[in-house]
Amino acid sequence: MAELPSEIDTSRPHPARMYDYFLGGKNHFAADRNTAETVLATAPTTRITARENRAFLGRAVRYLVAEAGVRQFLDIGTGLPTASNVHEVAQATDPTARVVYADNDPLVLAHARALLTSAPQGRTAYIQADLREPQAILESEAVRDVLDFTQPIALILVCVLHFVHDEFHPQAALATLLDALPSGSYLAASHATSEHLPVQGAAAQNTYRSSGVPLQLRDSDEFAHLAFRGLELVPPGVVLVSEWRPTALGPRPTPAEVNCYGGVARKP
Ligand SMILES: C[S@@+](CC[C@H](N)C(=O)[O-])C[C@H]1O[C@@H](n2cnc3c(N)ncnc32)[C@H](O)[C@@H]1O
Repeated sequence: MAELPSEIDTSRPHPARMYDYFLGGKNHFAADRNTAETVLATAPTTRITARENRAFLGRAVRYLVAEAGVRQFLDIGTGLPTASNVHEVAQATDPTARVVYADNDPLVLAHARALLTSAPQGRTAYIQADLREPQAILESEAVRDVLDFTQPIALILVCVLHFVHDEFHPQAALATLLDALPSGSYLAASHATSEHLPVQGAAAQNTYRSSGVPLQLRDSDEFAHLAFRGLELVPPGVVLVSEWRPTALGPRPTPAEVNCYGGVARKP
């Protein structure tokens, strides 16, 4: 990479770059790779988790546009641009779809141009922002400019809530965001778990935490309660991401390989 913004700290691992490493991308540094390899040494299925989660994101967005009729997205915890970014999936079905991306990793901002390649009929925007400060996201110029809060909006929180520890009140952050959305809006969310692989999951969580990344794995009930309380879950409800409306034929990975729950729900 030619020039990095000064606020990018490459000496410490960051979840966006570790996720990119797990997905086989190229945007990571030695600290990210080393921590990711330590995670893989104890939880070798993590690459499957990342791939299955990314595939869930694509299916959820396709469902939201094609079946639920949503045309606007607020994607918090975007990650580094990779295959099938939200606006690409959404605009493949409806080119007028609008997407605002938000992530707290400044490296994502450095790559934001790749997230802003909207179809001419639609819109995309990117802000550097933190899920723990939802009011700032809602008040940002990009969000106010691109999203129409009188029409349904899909809030996308895919594999990001587990980076918000209980002490930072993820439920309150979610409530602030959902309260701002009109009836008929949706939430698509996924969350890593150690339910099916307790020993390895705990070891992976410790690796993240000792590297300064505040990972908090939750089980399916905790995730469902945190994310979807008061919303109408779309069938099949909260399931392993691989089991959420799968489209591929053939065998799917086992629960202990997936280790990630997902769901989509409508705001009544
Ligand atoms: C595992 S990646 C998920 C990327 C994408 N949503 C996906 O599922 O393919 C998690 C992303 O959340 C971002 N993130 C972590 N904590 C965050 C926070 N408090 N606010 C905003 N983004 C955060 C990370 O920088 C990273 O890009």
